Amino acid sequence: MVDTTDEWIRSRTGIEKRHLVSEGEATSDMAANVARQLLERSGKSPDEIDLIIVATSTPDYLVVSTAALVQDKIGANNAWGFDIVAACTGFVYALETGAKMVESGRYNNVIVIGGDTMSSIIDYTDRNTCVIFGDGAGGVLLEPSENDYGILDSILHIDGSGHKYLTVPAGGSARPASKETVEKRLHFIYQDGKTVFKFAVKNMAKVSKEILDKNGLVGSDIKLFIPHQANKRIIDAAAKRCGMKEDQVLINVNKYGNTTAGTIPICIDEAWEEKRLEEGDLLLLAAFGGGFTWGSMLIRWGGIS
Ligand code: UT7
Repeated sequence: MVDTTDEWIRSRTGIEKRHLVSEGEATSDMAANVARQLLERSGKSPDEIDLIIVATSTPDYLVVSTAALVQDKIGANNAWGFDIVAACTGFVYALETGAKMVESGRYNNVIVIGGDTMSSIIDYTDRNTCVIFGDGAGGVLLEPSENDYGILDSILHIDGSGHKYLTVPAGGSARPASKETVEKRLHFIYQDGKTVFKFAVKNMAKVSKEILDKNGLVGSDIKLFIPHQANKRIIDAAAKRCGMKEDQVLINVNKYGNTTAGTIPICIDEAWEEKRLEEGDLLLLAAFGGGFTWGSMLIRWGGIS
């Protein structure tokens, strides 16, 4: 479709494979599948869910949150919910929000999902973006804990002066859809890859190191480093800066590409499936995305293992 090679994609990004939704499937379908699996694994019923938060930049509709559609699809009759838009940092933002809701004591079972149907906004004539992004979603179910489990610390940032470097230029209130915006292909994602790359390398590494220092930890104290999966070179740079060894760093960008808000929860799920997560393990999440948004999070895993 575009002037590229398999060798270029592998060597510049680490991506070997990406997954796309089937025709007719949207973000809420992936997210509802995630929610159903969370209910199955935790043995909870849909009626026990108090809150659903979906981090996504590719909602099914501009009006009506993806969380509302998930609520309906899984029959969570006692829940409320909302979406969070923070591009690739979305899941970390949503996790922080969901955890605070549980800590408040008002909500006991909170589903937090990160997912994006990037194929719905990809211009398959633009080699700068079409080789990178894939579709995917993942999630967690949060509940109160008697132990010191959950989010121990987080450092989150936003800097909107970077908004123009990674965005969908039209379709919002700033530039509503028109014949002209469609003709100019402004409903697809635009990325200034080089600028985003530089900002990502610098800030994802910095914020990961900062949270370690702040908590008196070093890389070897962490069981698993779970960075946003945008480009293997960005992950390697951040891991090196934090003193992580190869076996501490979760990498699956080779299998899924960049699924935006989906990358971190998909990594967590794979680690869980592979039995790499044990109660009490320290996890370090790090993300970077459009906005710009970025952040790190220190978690003591207390999940079912
Ligand atoms: O998750 C949200 C945040 N997003 C990111 O973190 C993505 C960050 N950016 C990146 O991962 C990288 O910048 C890219 C993978 C997007 C691009 O890699 P790069 O090594 O930074 O390439 P570049 O943009 O510096 O471009 C180098 C060359 C250019 O050609 P010229 O101008 O030197 O002739 C590009 O046109 O590579 C060209 N190029 C490609 N060539 C073959 C760009 N995309 C492709 C492609 N195939 N797909």
